[in-house]
Amino acid sequence: MASFTKSLDGLKICCIGAGYVGGPTMTILAEHCPQVRVCVVDISQPRIDQWNSSDLPIYEPGLQEIVESVRGKNLFFSTDVEGEIAQADIIFVAVNTPTKTYGIGSGSASNVKNIELCARTIAKCAKDSKIIVEKSTVPVETASALKRVLLANSKNVKFQVLSNPEFLAEGTAVRDLEDPSRVLIGGDQNEDGLAAIALLVEVYAQWVPRDKILTTNVWSSELSKLVANAYLAQRISSINSISALCEATKADVNEVARAVGTDRRIGSAFLRASVGFGGSCFQKDILNLVYLCESFGLPEVAAYWRSVITMNDYQKERFAKKMVRSMFNSITGKQIAMFGFAFKKDTGDTRETAAAYVCKYLLEERAKINVSDPKVTEEDMFLEFHYTLGLDEKTMPELKSLIKINNDPYEAAKGAHAIAVMTEWDEFKNYDYQKLYDGMLKPAFIFDGRNILDHKKLIDIGFEVHAIGKTFEMYQ
Ligand code: UDX
Ligand code: UDX
Repeated sequence: MASFTKSLDGLKICCIGAGYVGGPTMTILAEHCPQVRVCVVDISQPRIDQWNSSDLPIYEPGLQEIVESVRGKNLFFSTDVEGEIAQADIIFVAVNTPTKTYGIGSGSASNVKNIELCARTIAKCAKDSKIIVEKSTVPVETASALKRVLLANSKNVKFQVLSNPEFLAEGTAVRDLEDPSRVLIGGDQNEDGLAAIALLVEVYAQWVPRDKILTTNVWSSELSKLVANAYLAQRISSINSISALCEATKADVNEVARAVGTDRRIGSAFLRASVGFGGSCFQKDILNLVYLCESFGLPEVAAYWRSVITMNDYQKERFAKKMVRSMFNSITGKQIAMFGFAFKKDTGDTRETAAAYVCKYLLEERAKINVSDPKVTEEDMFLEFHYTLGLDEKTMPELKSLIKINNDPYEAAKGAHAIAVMTEWDEFKNYDYQKLYDGMLKPAFIFDGRNILDHKKLIDIGFEVHAIGKTFEMYQ
């Protein structure tokens, strides 16, 4: 490509990273831009094989059908990272950037090693000008780091680095991508930067109304993504803090959320009290924000945002402690049926799921747990324990004898003392709770960490019910 202006006809787009972000994003782009060739590359052959099969590596309602309608036409999945980079005009970078677990910024900074690696590969393969689009959520200033690595490692090739954060939520990725609240594009405010921005705007304008495509500078774009996630998470921590007060005062958090949310200025979204938020983004992005504030000598601002995480940790621990306390202060050897392990419904993703933290707490007390989740595999569950919590057979030799997946809920709850709902899967509402109750030891407890069940009905069956931000005496 001679310059950063080009028409969409014959444009080639490559995306590095075939994950929860790269896969769905490129699928929708390919669907709406038939004149553009889109290729998603990944270093993992099994991942690419799955994207090329009838069983995608991620569960996302509606995605399989769209992939099948464009795959092989203008959407491709490949492990030929270097070859695809070489021929692309625009390269999206959507690799994962987990929180650092060692060294400077350990526990709060993001590890941008994968991004840097991508920059070096791009620099090596690029023979002509490229637009690099940062899609992964990254610490602010990653774009400028990317640019420096690119420029230091290539000759006579022009690069423009854009920030184009993805705001999709898992489980609703297709809807969010088809009809986004906004598309945000940040780039250098000079001639080449503005030309690169204009080309990416043109791509999105194929299906997104132009007034929803916001353009800005790189810093504002990168920071906006962190702030958007911090605000969303803050709303959950705020309502969760109130849930503790509700349980103490016999107010009902759902009623409070309803009353507060009807104020147009506040709005009703993200006011569902829960056992705690999870997912690959919220905690990581807030920790990034905290790290950024600390690095710029703003400890008060850092402490303010850190408290969102503190409240979330408190909520998860409070839930687990309540289970132990309610079951006569001892759960050793007691069987617990856990409904749900994913961090939210309609996804099999377990990253940072509140369920893992609650399990860890219960396992330390040597409870026995049967997990039922429509999409989570035993392998993913143990990986999450290992990666996020350092919990594995080395640190707890009896781990695999204490916890397993049993996807028949009636089997999972047979002989159990308690059911704990961790994820708001719709099907949990439709189980036969009389049948579940009949198979359980008495008193039979239900801990509803998502407030999705019909508590009144459960109490009538005979369950002792504990929910978030409400006390069940109100029904007596
Ligand atoms: C997300 C987002 O991109 C990021 O913004 C968010 O903060 C968390 O991670 P996601 O798509 O959910 O990424 O990550 P994941 O599903 O782990 O996919 C990343 C993919 O990149 C993996 O398939 C991995 O194999 C691939 N990868 C990683 C590469 O192809 N090259 C690398 O160098 C590193
Ligand atoms: C989030 C952002 O919503 C999205 O814009 C960004 O791109 C990535 O991070 P995601 O993590 O996929 O998306 O899911 P989200 O629906 O935001 O839920 C995050 C967590 O908060 C889940 O554990 C969910 O159960 C929890 N949650 C959400 C609540 O506990 N209460 C609520 O009211 C809403």
